[in-house]
Amino acid sequence: MTEQHREIDVLLDEKRTFEPPAAFAEAAHVADRGPYDEAARDREGYWEAWARQLDWFQPWREVLEWNPPFSKWFVGGALNAAHNCLDRHLEARGSALALLWEGEPGDRRTYTYRELHEEVCRFANALRGLGVGKGDRVAIYLPMIPEAAIAMLACARIGAPHSVVFGGFSPQSLRDRIEDAGARCVITADGGYRRGAIIPLKASTDAAIEGLDYVSSVVVVCRSAATDPEAAPYGDAVETPSCDMIEGRDHRYHDLIADASPECPAERMDAEDLLFILYTSGTTGKPKGVMHSTGGYMTQVTATTKWVFDLGEDDIYWCTADVGWVTGHSYIVYGPLSNGATVLMYEGSPDWPDRGRFWTLCESYGVTVFYTAPTAIRAFMRWGDHWPAGYDLSKLRLLGTVGEPINPEAWIWYHENIGGTRCPIVDTWWQTETGGIMITPLPGAITTKPGTATVPFPGIEAAILNEEGNPAESGYLAITSPWPGMLRGVWGDEERYRETYWSKWPGIYFPGDGARVDEDGYYWIMGRVDDVLNVAGHRIGTMEVESALVDHTAVAEAAVVGRSDEIKGQAVAAFVSVVEGVRTSEELRQELRAHVVTKIGAIARPADLIFAAELPKTRSGKIMRRLLRDVAEGRALGDTTTLADPAVVRSLQRQFAGSES
Ligand code: WTA
Repeated sequence: MTEQHREIDVLLDEKRTFEPPAAFAEAAHVADRGPYDEAARDREGYWEAWARQLDWFQPWREVLEWNPPFSKWFVGGALNAAHNCLDRHLEARGSALALLWEGEPGDRRTYTYRELHEEVCRFANALRGLGVGKGDRVAIYLPMIPEAAIAMLACARIGAPHSVVFGGFSPQSLRDRIEDAGARCVITADGGYRRGAIIPLKASTDAAIEGLDYVSSVVVVCRSAATDPEAAPYGDAVETPSCDMIEGRDHRYHDLIADASPECPAERMDAEDLLFILYTSGTTGKPKGVMHSTGGYMTQVTATTKWVFDLGEDDIYWCTADVGWVTGHSYIVYGPLSNGATVLMYEGSPDWPDRGRFWTLCESYGVTVFYTAPTAIRAFMRWGDHWPAGYDLSKLRLLGTVGEPINPEAWIWYHENIGGTRCPIVDTWWQTETGGIMITPLPGAITTKPGTATVPFPGIEAAILNEEGNPAESGYLAITSPWPGMLRGVWGDEERYRETYWSKWPGIYFPGDGARVDEDGYYWIMGRVDDVLNVAGHRIGTMEVESALVDHTAVAEAAVVGRSDEIKGQAVAAFVSVVEGVRTSEELRQELRAHVVTKIGAIARPADLIFAAELPKTRSGKIMRRLLRDVAEGRALGDTTTLADPAVVRSLQRQFAGSES
């Protein structure tokens, strides 16, 4: 039993529950369980009603076509995602604020729906001018600036699927993703701010695409063109770097849009046409390009944003994710804008210039709905109650969390210190592959318990199954019927799609998480059951880190496991054996950790790196990860009877104890 399981048991015993506050429920979109029953009675009719809230150029013939494991939703329908996020609101909300943005240095910009529409149209025309058309993949490698959302929507407008790559990924990771998707256009920026430093994204892009001749255009946003970070309150020291522009290939964003027309007809997209690809880690060394369609995805993110966040016209909604992750796609860009909401976007770190930055933002923008990750909440807890206490957070009315299991202590701290005990908390379980939220309370209707994501969203069908596919109290989480936002495949690898998600049980989706269900039918998600780590809410494949390590000439063999971390949930622990003749040293340890950062990005840096003369293996030569996890957790060893040489582990344990300082 893990620490977390124990904590949950304690709280289950206490049966501590939180009813939706009466004042909240009264005004909420959903205040009772009616929609659950309605969706259960006629699931397709229920999703169809949501789809009808969107604008369609052509209606669908059929709601769902299900040939496991392939689904088609709203078959024959035609629509455009950007049209639904922008044009659809112009008449009623054209002058309402769509985007409020603050850079880390404190520079600000705002866009009304009309202004955002115009900017997206201009950039969409500019992309067309560069030869980008329907079906062409575009890589987006940007900091958290308005142009990230604008670029995504411009791609959507012309039917060019985007592949957003998190700005913290290394040039190598960017290159892998550009190559896999065959992107011929990359949109980047000269730089972005993070903890007072500048991240030189254009230089990384240049390195990433060196020799990739099919990348014919690079668009460069000048980070400081529209605002002046130098004049911003927290932006004294750094300057945006000047960057080398390659004639003919590189174009300045601001030059392009200045020359472009503000009118741009939206491409007519089939409901099943690809909206985007987003790479995510799996159990092999190579990230998977998760594919999302237009009609089903837009339907699910529109529905979940409206009901889970109970969004209304007066809300100021802030999701702290980066657009490089699926949370940013679905709950900064597509879901909220499809609902005509006002979205706050912030570029930088929560502790810059001090640990009150998020609360300064909440106070000064009057944030009403706030969505963040448990890792951030645990960091806030550690930083101390006095930080949030020093700000006026009284506008907040709803809090959300996503990305990893939230421990009950963190939930309660969030409820008391950020939500002032009056805000419901929505703990939302979902994945890159699911497109939108799947398991979550509806804040006006569902009684919550700290540590559980509660029940499937209306219209979503889940179960806990054992290996054989029989219902169990504790086992694997399963999604038992297709849902509109489900991934449509893995880019270029149909076999991997079948194998990863659909091979455990026929026709049932396997998300890779362990879970259990309590007497109220609430789902308690226990974390990944595969070789995927969740470090600070980021998915990292152990094999990816191992490949990065063995890529170094000094490394013979590497095994990577996760160990628990108080703030980040999990941390990367690497066990490395070096090639003969190489001497291990502290310098080499640091060099190898840095090598992983160069290959993947800082999120994958091993917290522990232990040199091992040998890795523990079974007699048939398989690395015994379970034992390595025990070593990394500092636990007593489990069963070692199948181990070829027990002395190997004992020596590792000694080294590990010595390395913890
Ligand atoms: C984990 C992020 C527990 C889970 C949206 C899942 C969670 C993986 C929760 C997906 C939650 C996400 N409670 N675990 N509320 N939300 N997870 O693709 O292991 O980056 O499989 O999508 O995060 O991570 P991804």
